[in-house]
Amino acid sequence: MCGVIGYIGYRNATDVILKGLSRLEYRGYDSAGVAVLADGEIETLKRQGKLAVLKEELDKHPIRGNTGIGHTRWATHGVPNDTNAHPHLDIHGCIAIVHNGIIENYQELKQALQKKGYKFASDTDSETIAHLVSSEYKGDLLEAVKKAAAKLKGSFAAAVIHKGEPGRIVGIRLDSPMVVGLGTNEFFIASDIPAILEYTKNVIYLENGEMVDISLAKGVSIYGLDGKERKKKAVTIKWDISQAEKGGYKHFMLKEIFEQPTVLHKIFGERIKKGNVVFDELAIKPAVFKKIKNIAVVACGTAYHAGLTGKYLLEKVTRIPVWVDQASEFRYRDPIVNKDTLVIVVSQSGETADTLAGLREAKRRGAKVLAICNVLGSTIAREADGVIYTHAGPEIAVASTKAYTAQIAIFQLLTYYIAKERGTVKGVDKGFLQGLKKIPHIMDEMLKEYEKENKISYYATKFHEYYHARNNKSCFLYLARNVNYPNALEGALKLKEISYICAEGYPAGEMKHGPIALIDENPWVVCLAIKSDTYDKMLSNIQEIKARDGIVIAVVSKGDKLAKEKSINYAMEVPVVPEIFSPFLVVVPLQLLAYYVGRAFGYDIDKPRNLAKSVTVE
Ligand code: F6R
Repeated sequence: MCGVIGYIGYRNATDVILKGLSRLEYRGYDSAGVAVLADGEIETLKRQGKLAVLKEELDKHPIRGNTGIGHTRWATHGVPNDTNAHPHLDIHGCIAIVHNGIIENYQELKQALQKKGYKFASDTDSETIAHLVSSEYKGDLLEAVKKAAAKLKGSFAAAVIHKGEPGRIVGIRLDSPMVVGLGTNEFFIASDIPAILEYTKNVIYLENGEMVDISLAKGVSIYGLDGKERKKKAVTIKWDISQAEKGGYKHFMLKEIFEQPTVLHKIFGERIKKGNVVFDELAIKPAVFKKIKNIAVVACGTAYHAGLTGKYLLEKVTRIPVWVDQASEFRYRDPIVNKDTLVIVVSQSGETADTLAGLREAKRRGAKVLAICNVLGSTIAREADGVIYTHAGPEIAVASTKAYTAQIAIFQLLTYYIAKERGTVKGVDKGFLQGLKKIPHIMDEMLKEYEKENKISYYATKFHEYYHARNNKSCFLYLARNVNYPNALEGALKLKEISYICAEGYPAGEMKHGPIALIDENPWVVCLAIKSDTYDKMLSNIQEIKARDGIVIAVVSKGDKLAKEKSINYAMEVPVVPEIFSPFLVVVPLQLLAYYVGRAFGYDIDKPRNLAKSVTVE
């Protein structure tokens, strides 16, 4: 995901673009840049890093002009650096483009253009557009973009300017979003409305396969890719800026929870091909997976919990011994790791200092290191022997949600991949991948039902009342068994982060060895009691809690009357799926519970106190 913006009018384009990019930064934030037409030339400034870095640079070297485009990047092709940042120029420096999406046939086009003498400066697919438009340019930018578009495959949105045509921007949309803003004597184009909302509420949404010719002299004209003009009406936007930035959700965390079905759908769509698991970017040879004798998973926080889930999956299916370490412990405890070990480091940001140190330690000891990362080109992704990206898109809320389920998805696929390489796929073959592919839809339906019922937010309000009625003495205990035990830890972590309430996660079998002493009428005990091999044991745990006046809030399988009869106080239902896939669904009500409790207490959900999204210090 990237953010694209363009401006023509009477204001300084750089100022408008920078403001717009700050509202698009949620779409990507590994580099940013602007290209502005100043005194008959295109001036560009691009910087790796957050928008603030670019802003600082522009303060030192201002660019002034009335026509310009800008971009904030979430790298797909080519690591985040100044060169790969957008805008990209054509070989003559006459055309500048910004692009969101992927050009699938860029290699083929690039080779053809290179044969014609076009030199590429970056590793991106996007630069192809600049040279392609240049190769088609005969004095009319719209015509050139139209001809170039006929050759491009993929999903994308792009904005293009030409130094010989000031006061004109041509835009195109194919699957990736794009809106045109209509002001008075000024026009805008952007990936999303928040970027331009400060200046205008009148917008035209571009549809798939539409181009727009925006000109100060002639106004806005929309065309199909066949070149035929389309008459479209502007609509008036009623949102306020803060809402719009979160896509209508009150918080990024909620938005990201609801994005999970889409993320999983994308992952399984990309990775399961012709009944096989495909990790295109993985540089570790399949033979390595055949030889390894054990696996160590190293990570922090939520990523560590995903790693614990990975252990259950990997051991169950591949029969390779797996252990999981918090990176801060692994790095100092003289771990037994050698060339027979595959070390899997898991990190959303790819920059967590302890995980990075763990990776280096593992390499030093001769192990092969595989990274599961979300951020492209991050340090961990670069330093590992091989990387599998989660492609979950930027995660903005500090409390991780969609990155967690994306990491579990990669563990599920990796389990199958390794088992297949070692010839140990038994009883989990075709049905395994088909079952996985059903999860996004099932999760989507479940979320729709939750939205309708609004039960979890009601439970949160009840807890809030309860907490105050008991002089703030209440706390949470999360209990589960087997493959959902890591979800108990994750549910407790989410609640701690967002609501600052004490919460502990335990394997339910451990309850009698200590935590049972906590149980009276004060704590709320979250029991993950879905239908599974350990279901009866969980029901016994629930009985033990109820016998001691505990309040039970349980995640149960849809339609499970028996669990409800055990006098559960509050139930959150999840659809029935094979136990091995259940962690995807079971964690969702826990994420929502944490979210709504935090909200009931009135806390800053997206930026919880004392926390940072990426922990780059020890
Ligand atoms: C919890 C959370 C943190 C991170 C941890 C590791 O919601 O976000 O616990 O999971 O700091 O971060 P990454 O995955 O970036 O290495």
